[in-house]
Amino acid sequence: MLEYLISSLNTSTIILLVVSFLIYAWYKNVSRPAGLPPGPIALPIVGNILELTKGPLHEEFNKIAIKYGDIFSVKIGSSWCIILNNLELAKDAFLKKPVEFAGRPKTFTTEYFSQGYKDIASVSLSPTWTLHRKITHTAIRHFASGKRLDQLIHSILPKLSRALDETEGKAFDPKEALGVAVYNILATMCFGHDYSFGDPKLQFWIDFNKDVMSDVGNGLPADFIPWLKHFPDARSKRVLKLIDDWHMELGKEMTAHKESYDSENVKDLIDCLMKEQENAIAEGSAKVDSLTETHLLQTVSDLFQAGTDTTTTTLHWAVALMAQHPEIQEKVAEEVDRVVGRDRPPSVEDRGQLPYTEACMYEMLRYSTVAPIGVVHATMEDVALGNYMIPKDTWVMVNQWAIHFDEKHWDEPNKFKPEHFLDESGGVRQHPEGFLPFSFGRRVCLGESFAKAEIFILFSWLFQHYTFSVPPEHEEKFELKLDLSTGLVNQLLEYDIVAKKRF
Ligand code: HEM
Repeated sequence: MLEYLISSLNTSTIILLVVSFLIYAWYKNVSRPAGLPPGPIALPIVGNILELTKGPLHEEFNKIAIKYGDIFSVKIGSSWCIILNNLELAKDAFLKKPVEFAGRPKTFTTEYFSQGYKDIASVSLSPTWTLHRKITHTAIRHFASGKRLDQLIHSILPKLSRALDETEGKAFDPKEALGVAVYNILATMCFGHDYSFGDPKLQFWIDFNKDVMSDVGNGLPADFIPWLKHFPDARSKRVLKLIDDWHMELGKEMTAHKESYDSENVKDLIDCLMKEQENAIAEGSAKVDSLTETHLLQTVSDLFQAGTDTTTTTLHWAVALMAQHPEIQEKVAEEVDRVVGRDRPPSVEDRGQLPYTEACMYEMLRYSTVAPIGVVHATMEDVALGNYMIPKDTWVMVNQWAIHFDEKHWDEPNKFKPEHFLDESGGVRQHPEGFLPFSFGRRVCLGESFAKAEIFILFSWLFQHYTFSVPPEHEEKFELKLDLSTGLVNQLLEYDIVAKKRF
């Protein structure tokens, strides 16, 4: 029968069938699934990638929103994605339907990095995710709050001070010194030890993040077009090797901890995780399967990934913005002098007493918006949002940058203005509408409280001890430019600054 059919087809019929099939495949590939909001026409295979990579993603989203409104959909390679470009939509999704919107997309890189989704940041909502978030939250609170947090941060200040003093008033880019401080704080919390400046191990962690950011900042081809994983290009191979090295280095720390572990003397975050594992084994609890060595390594990996670059970049912005606004910097220094004095470093407890400094810190978080589109979510099931029915597994991005610069929430949003965070009586507005640098809802940043306290202490210490200024040769034109190679983080390109000791 089949033979008869084939023999009866002439060449033109076969061509017609092939062309029809290709048109159908093309149509299926680019046509928007029912229920999704409108958006620009997608191309076969690449979807809207070409137009989305013309400039920073958050700016491209803003341009599309002008035509299609604040909720629209785009196709990123083979995945459909909805963009929420204002606060109300973000609340409708992340606050009113926290579970439905608490998934994460599955991509080639996240799967490889998380060794099969055994981490916190890239796994969708699940009992394992809940368990790890809870354990890690408790551990961070134990090692990095109150007096312990003060000690943790104060312990690295002499090193930071030395690095800044060594510049001897010459122009330099502060990113490295700030980065070393931030990495050392996390290393002390997680590993129980810090590194001296120039230690190759420390440089490894820093370089890794830099390399991964520049190589994966905008994603690997296989993240968007999954079948490309079978044809890895040179960049993908380089990234996989970097990730292997990262796992190996973390593995060495885990092994060293296993050898020195003493349940009576839990010294750091890794020990804390090991204690949870030990308890689960002793109880014969079902949790054991979620507390394997890979899970523990992945939790530490997440903290080192999520907690270093974001904080360093925020402080990098801080120094640049303060140098650009000497009158604001002077007010911060004056307030710190008046309240804290010069005989001790600022501490967590000073937070309520330094309203101008704290307002400056929040304004810096708004103005820099280091995570302009946050971390991508995915729908866990078909879910209604406004007039739309968003299918399961759709990617979801909130344009935090659009919200942080929305005139509905901020007067003169393009101006760096600490007053955005001060009320009429000079008190700090802790949670103004339209401020979500750490996102919100079920997946809110796990390190939010720690990051705020850490940035507060480092920020106020920097201006207690130094005056940062634009070098005279750059005064005419000191521009802050985004480093576009880093994709999802609003990093600044290198800039030069002068640090002058105040006393
Ligand atoms: C300025 C500093 C920081 C900023 C702006 C920031 C911002 C964010 C944002 C926007 C998210 C995504 C939330 C979402 O998916 O809706 C996130 C997630 C996360 N952050 Fe942070 N973060 C910072 C510092 C930290 C620190 C210091 C740590 C830990 C030590 C940390 C740990 C995490 C983790 C583990 C997640 C994943 C949470 C999850 O998927 O459930 N972050 N952060």
